[in-house]
Amino acid sequence: MVHSNYKILIIVSFCISLICCSPVGFKLTVEDVALAKTKWDDSSSELLDAGFNLYVAKCGGCHLLMTPNRYTEKRWLEILPIMDKKAKLSLEQSNLIMKYVITKSFTEQKKK
Ligand code: HEC
Repeated sequence: MVHSNYKILIIVSFCISLICCSPVGFKLTVEDVALAKTKWDDSSSELLDAGFNLYVAKCGGCHLLMTPNRYTEKRWLEILPIMDKKAKLSLEQSNLIMKYVITKSFTEQKKK
């Protein structure tokens, strides 16, 4: 019992550090929000955040989370429909994730 709790604690803190400490590549910035608003009229930091949270929750179960800038928008639009099915996402969820990864892929690629 003590041991299994300990293990869970290690796993949880590892996941938290992985998400919180990843310096760039995942976290949303003011720049991301501004860019998203030029691409989608209805975009907002809340919606991008929701996309980020879904990305972390739904897309890291089978493999590590890929940094969004690993792929271009074109490539993401090919990959996402396949992964949406694997993750059994609703249309709304897949839209939120799509907007998050594409935004982040743009802003991070500009810095490359
Ligand atoms: C049920 C397991 C599963 C879930 C959930 C899942 N994936 Fe995948 N993903 C895979 C497998 C298996 C591969 C490698 C084989 C393939 O391309 O089908 C993969 C490959 C990928 C690749 C690399 C594709 C390439 O061609 O280089 C990306 C990017 C990716 N996933 C993103 C995502 C995103 C984003 C989500 C959330 C919407 C997600 N995955 C959810 C199983 C999953």
